[in-house]
Amino acid sequence: MSDAPAKLSWDGTEIELPIVRGSENECAADISKLRAQTGLITLDYGFMNTGATESAITFIDGDAGILRYRGYPIEQLAAESTYLETAYLLIHGELPTDDELHAWSSDVTHHTFLHENLKQLMEGFRYDAHPMGMLISAVAALSTFYPEAANVDDEATRTAQVVRLIAKVPTIAAFSYRHSRGLPYVYPDNELGFTENFLSMMFRMAEPRYSAEPALIKALDVLFILHADHEQNCSANVMRSIGSSKADPYSALAGAAAALYGPLHGGANEAVLRMLAEIGDVKRIPDFIARVKGGEGRLMGFGHRIYKNYDPRAKIIKETADAVFEVTGRNRLLDIALELEKIALEDEYFVSRKLYPNVDFYSGIIYQALGLPTAMFPVMFAIPRTAGWLAQWLEGVVDAEQKIARPRQVYVGADERDYVGLSDRSPAQPQALALP
Ligand code: CMC
Repeated sequence: MSDAPAKLSWDGTEIELPIVRGSENECAADISKLRAQTGLITLDYGFMNTGATESAITFIDGDAGILRYRGYPIEQLAAESTYLETAYLLIHGELPTDDELHAWSSDVTHHTFLHENLKQLMEGFRYDAHPMGMLISAVAALSTFYPEAANVDDEATRTAQVVRLIAKVPTIAAFSYRHSRGLPYVYPDNELGFTENFLSMMFRMAEPRYSAEPALIKALDVLFILHADHEQNCSANVMRSIGSSKADPYSALAGAAAALYGPLHGGANEAVLRMLAEIGDVKRIPDFIARVKGGEGRLMGFGHRIYKNYDPRAKIIKETADAVFEVTGRNRLLDIALELEKIALEDEYFVSRKLYPNVDFYSGIIYQALGLPTAMFPVMFAIPRTAGWLAQWLEGVVDAEQKIARPRQVYVGADERDYVGLSDRSPAQPQALALP
């Protein structure tokens, strides 16, 4: 592959676009001078061909089905690391030493409590509030408890908010679940590890100390590792965009979580479960597939903007599901999911479009086996993704090349026209903007 500049010729002007080469050999044409030299801008809906940044955090090769955090293959991290160690890796760039890991775990553990006012704010939600709406709001509200977080140019301040967010998001998540069940909120237990403490805040009742099955703690920790980062996805892009205006990280993370909420992103695991429940029986799968191919909805949990191969996370999740079902008993929706996957992977429609199971296809089935309602699924995604969002935010905030995210547009609206007074407007006047 050549590093010679790409050439672009338009309207009599010829320019050269320097090539930027990444450490895994992916190449980008640097168009930063394009408009100044030619008057052209680029138009790229959904950023299908646009790199917004150089990044050293996560590498994905979507064609080969590869995912690495800071160079480490996701398979090795899932087998050998813990979520908290992986979070350290994403944030700091290197695996921690024993002392560093100890200090990091202790820091996170000692910031898991929420201010009582924040708890009261959460108690003010309606009894049936969606836990993701509660999480988004509560994270945004955190910025009012830590106004110093606005000083994003100060390293020590940034570090303090990173620890707080990684520590407090699980507490907020668990409180939102307890709220939706009408149960008293359970305070963090500092004697427990990160994931076990989360399970305790979710499920502890009258017992003095909650004790979870080790296999379930491990399975959830693996799910957390798999969901921790995914380079420039929709919510990471929001995190960086809000961060580019130098807003505090709580506000930025609330925005990122809102982006995750949508069914095309982190809300997909919830949508998968609804879909499997709606199918209800393996016998109905052919009919369901036919409807998807006819344009009636999508096969949720399938397809990915980047992966045009089996999502490596989905492979690990499938194995994790077996470990969970040994403890909880088999989820009957698993049979429908397995058959659906088998049929889809042989069907020309899905094969030709390179649609494979993604991370959300099996994760919901595990969450359900753990006793979680579907509304909690995107929240379960947001807990570990907090580390990824923060790593992306930190990288952007300290990058001297970064500017406020502010795309251009190709305007397609009305030409200049004179204001028409209310009494002079005829019904023939267009009532609404014709949107492209
Ligand atoms: N079921 C049926 N058809 C699909 C699906 C699907 N899940 N996904 C894509 N297609 C078709 C689509 O209709 C289009 O067909 P055609 O070329 O005939 O118009 C073609 O495949 C390309 O689709 P696209 O929408 O242009 O692809 P995209 O890269 O913009 O979308 C996606 C990626 C993830 C939004 C999409 O595959 C999708 O909607 N999947 C279902 C939702 C889902 O599982 N989301 C979770 C993503 S992974 C977790 C995360 O990172 O958030």
